[in-house]
Amino acid sequence: MSHIWKANKSGLHAAAQRLAGGHLLGVPTETVYGLAADATNENAVAAIYETKGRPRFNPLIVHVRAVEDADRLAHLTPGAKKLMDAFWPGPLTLVLAKRPDAEIAQLVSAGLDTLALRSPAHPVAQALLDAFGRPFVAPSANRSGRMSPTCADHVIEEFGDRVPVLDGGPCTAGVESTIVAVGPEHAAILRPGPITAGQIEAILGHPLSQPTKGIQAPGMMTSHYAPNAPLRLNATSVKDTERWLGFGGTKGADLDLSPSGNLTEAAAHLFAYLRRLDATPGPIAVAPIPHEGLGIAINDRLTRAAAPREAPRK
Ligand code: TXA
Ligand code: MG
Repeated sequence: MSHIWKANKSGLHAAAQRLAGGHLLGVPTETVYGLAADATNENAVAAIYETKGRPRFNPLIVHVRAVEDADRLAHLTPGAKKLMDAFWPGPLTLVLAKRPDAEIAQLVSAGLDTLALRSPAHPVAQALLDAFGRPFVAPSANRSGRMSPTCADHVIEEFGDRVPVLDGGPCTAGVESTIVAVGPEHAAILRPGPITAGQIEAILGHPLSQPTKGIQAPGMMTSHYAPNAPLRLNATSVKDTERWLGFGGTKGADLDLSPSGNLTEAAAHLFAYLRRLDATPGPIAVAPIPHEGLGIAINDRLTRAAAPREAPRK
């Protein structure tokens, strides 16, 4: 049997059974593909850390069907409720105080007393949540530190035949969800993503704060999302040895994230194009990307992909 499963009735049934059996599964979401496991099964969650080579201090996002399911796991602040009403299902993760009696594996939150929660908009992810009947955790389905997968083939590139993937086609957003910590008085973005700061402030009705030391996303290491090839950013010309990733019609580019200069299209192509350029030898130069709207999330990922490959910061 192929390791890429069709997301039809029998595929979804097999997928739900696989999760219920404590096994891992590649799952499509609108942002990137996730490596899913039963969020209530301690051994299954442990297998995620092992399979990804993920540091144990880096907690996981719990994927739920809807607000009611989130309410059983965490204390929803008024600000969080507003954001859920506005953006769920969708590419927004909320970090909230975990309920002491939450039915969730201990390893999910990596020792923190908060939980990161998101309701994915992808119809296949929603159908799987329905069929499975419980929340699943899903970090991006890549080996730790590497580029996130945005189609089923990328997941196979990462884990080979160890993890089957439910096929949901290419991801539409292409960068991971925006993560927001919402306390009683202020809210802060821990990871920029498809939902922008402006959109969040418009719903909350007040400006966002800077993240305080205690509530950063432990996974935001300096080096992350990295191809094997070295990356050079804001390149307005290229050297002979370099391949050029363009934006907005860059003349002479090997690939262009969006010839028309559309940031949504550029985000959707980002990881797939980096993977394609990484498949041929030599460094990669990337054209400047405007630092506005979705460009903030794209530049965040590119900066980390270009960072020196040191050990993760604790
Ligand atoms: O779009 C997404 O969010 C994708 C798809 C698959 O849903 N998932 C994803 O997961 O990007 P992952 O594990 O690659 O990134 C999760 C990030 C990490 O930086 C982690 O540190 C942070 O979320 N995180 C998880 N729980 C947290 C918590 N309780 N407090 C602060 N940060 C948290
Ligand atoms: Mg990731």
